[in-house]
Amino acid sequence: MTPEEFIRTNAALIAPPLVPEVKLYLAIEVLPLWRATEDELAEMGVPPPYWAFAWAGGQALARYLLDNPEVVRGRRVLDIGSGSGLVALAAHKAGAASVQAADIDAFACTAIQLNAAVNGCAIATTQDDVIGAHGDWDIILVGDLFYERPLAERLLAWLAAMGKPALLGDPGRSYFPKTGVVKLASYTVPTSRDLEDRESRETGVYRLVAPQ
Ligand SMILES: C[S@@+](CC[C@H](N)C(=O)[O-])C[C@H]1O[C@@H](n2cnc3c(N)ncnc32)[C@H](O)[C@@H]1O
Repeated sequence: MTPEEFIRTNAALIAPPLVPEVKLYLAIEVLPLWRATEDELAEMGVPPPYWAFAWAGGQALARYLLDNPEVVRGRRVLDIGSGSGLVALAAHKAGAASVQAADIDAFACTAIQLNAAVNGCAIATTQDDVIGAHGDWDIILVGDLFYERPLAERLLAWLAAMGKPALLGDPGRSYFPKTGVVKLASYTVPTSRDLEDRESRETGVYRLVAPQ
């Protein structure tokens, strides 16, 4: 089964609760899809389906962009750890000059292209690990990427070294920085109990202000 077939078979077009303007191929139920990827994993190395969920951090950041389009309007945007592409799509709808979505998971890159087509958005995708790379981006968007220590540390070091504007959406994951960020907005994001073990998560949108 190709990634596109897998996505079309195992996900349905759904609008995330906080961002009804956008439709995404998302899991209808959490556990069957997670099990499906575990079965496929044995055969073809399918990674966990992060792309099949609109994570709380991404939903909050996407909402913020749609409500404050001036932060990305006319700018060249990178959405790192794009997953479903939700933040990238919101940046495009908010008037970004160009949007690149980066995700190291090939299934995520396919999901982003399918979701971009559904929403009539032009999004460039890359499966390269862009952490450490130099790109011609004006602003970096980070939706819900502080769930693993090594990833969080690499990401923050790179963002600090680049010194470019960066906006982070995060529901208080374990490795979210405790200093060097300024909260711009907060949202109560409806979530799935299977995924987050609660019905909603208080989620912030932050601007990175100083090296960590
Ligand atoms: C929790 S999901 C967040 C997805 C999306 N931003 C959202 O908020 O819905 C994290 C995503 O980051 C991706 N990822 C992990 N490490 C990465 C890296 N070094 N570069 C790019 N993407 C990465 C994963 O494949 C996954 O799709």
